[in-house]
Amino acid sequence: MDFLFTPYLVAGICAALVVACSFRLLRCSNLDHIPVVGHSSLLASYWFTKGLEVDHTERFVQEGYNKYKSGIFRVANLTHWVVCLHRSHLEHAARALEDHLSFIEAADNSLKLEHTFGLKNNDMYHVSIIQSTLTRSLSVLYADVRDEIVAACNEYLDLKHNEWKTISAVRVTLKIASRASNRMFVGLPLCRDPDWLDLNMNLPRAVVDEARILRLFPSFMVPLVAKFVTNLSGRTSRGVALLGPVIKERLQHMEAEGTDWNNKPNDFLQWCMDSKQETSLTSLTRRIISINFAGIHTTSSALFHLAENPRHAQALRDEVEVVVSKYGWTKEGLSKMRKVDSFLKETQRFEGLSILGLSRKAMSDITLADGTFIPQGTFLAFPAHAMHHDDAVYENPNVFEPFRFADMRNKEFEGSRHQMVAITPDLLSFGLGRHTCPGRFFAATVLKTMLAHIVMSYDVKRGNDESRPTTLHVGRAIVPNPTAKVMFRKREE
Ligand code: HEM
Repeated sequence: MDFLFTPYLVAGICAALVVACSFRLLRCSNLDHIPVVGHSSLLASYWFTKGLEVDHTERFVQEGYNKYKSGIFRVANLTHWVVCLHRSHLEHAARALEDHLSFIEAADNSLKLEHTFGLKNNDMYHVSIIQSTLTRSLSVLYADVRDEIVAACNEYLDLKHNEWKTISAVRVTLKIASRASNRMFVGLPLCRDPDWLDLNMNLPRAVVDEARILRLFPSFMVPLVAKFVTNLSGRTSRGVALLGPVIKERLQHMEAEGTDWNNKPNDFLQWCMDSKQETSLTSLTRRIISINFAGIHTTSSALFHLAENPRHAQALRDEVEVVVSKYGWTKEGLSKMRKVDSFLKETQRFEGLSILGLSRKAMSDITLADGTFIPQGTFLAFPAHAMHHDDAVYENPNVFEPFRFADMRNKEFEGSRHQMVAITPDLLSFGLGRHTCPGRFFAATVLKTMLAHIVMSYDVKRGNDESRPTTLHVGRAIVPNPTAKVMFRKREE
């Protein structure tokens, strides 16, 4: 059956691709008043860039940023134009309501949430649980998060006395972050289950690949095409097989004992179940899988910077030693680690996760403050990476200065404005305004604890592959190079 289907499917995909691109190409003329940077037609952008695998997005966006310092420009994506707005429009975008500039519609366009995660656009109740219960629980559950990080480092690095070991930084940090996050999401023992971790760690790649194909099709065809190109049902059954028994057991307790029982778990899954928004194994499993997608960004880029400069590691170590001797390994202690915080924030500034920030879709015709007309349906974003490297905002923007934010904090008396979780128009890593990342307090807790634990317990240096870039730019995404290596050695107790 499969072999019969394949040629038709491929032919269908190709035909639809051409139709869809041409269709969109014709529709783009209402953006003629906005200058183009890079390829001037969407199809050209595709053929020249070989399907975005080798992509010039970064070059074009930087070029546009330099050329139109106080204006806006657009760059071609395979299926649509992205209008890059100027910094002066940040406030407008940050305050805009969903029916004006939509974050969810933009996210849905890039990830096709219903077909890749099984989530409906209007079904995001987990966001308020992240904002409230998860963030509030960080102090109480801090010991668990740290315990998981220590256990994961011991297991995955598995170092003998005085031995240097070469490690794939991306893979290992992803595994450690996954375990720490899942300790909070689903608790023990599932957070250590290799199959559960594998499912969640491989998810971003699978979802991004599937969504990339779906984006080629007009929306009326997407549900049909999704049946062939996405593996939502495979992921869901694999997830249900692992998480289902945990959910069932908790449902039995809830039925028999109500809202409270002895040793009731205190984790994200339970908070979702307590909210009674959904009870089916499938929907709860999909919810937890989607939280994993948002939540397990890694600290591997920070690790590369650490490995490149042992001087930085020593400065961090000195700080952690002093703080831990006074406060122990606690959430309060973590808040005193200004250098650790600054190191990670500088990594976000220097590399970040994306060339573009605050992606939005215009839900109605809009006239910006400078008079520019933006037609309904336009995709908008800010050139975040270029803004983070602007010397009008940051001194020596192209130099990684690990303690630049700690220095800023120290200069200002109170100094919380420059901590990692602070939101500012100068750094868009966690967004700005209504959709500011609600998971940033949790992410900062995990990442800071990982970095602090690693500098205290290990010596780190670059592997014998210094020539390899530590990050790769794939389309708009900035991803740590999975082949770059770091060497670890256990420090003397
Ligand atoms: C270093 C780690 C992280 C980074 C860099 C990051 C970054 C972001 C960014 C840029 C946005 C969009 C903001 C906007 O466009 O205005 C966002 C939204 C979001 N993030 Fe994060 N995030 C991180 C960790 C997490 C974690 C750990 C969670 C969950 C526990 C999470 C959950 C979410 C959710 C649910 C949204 C959507 C918010 C909404 O719908 O309003 N993120 N994140």
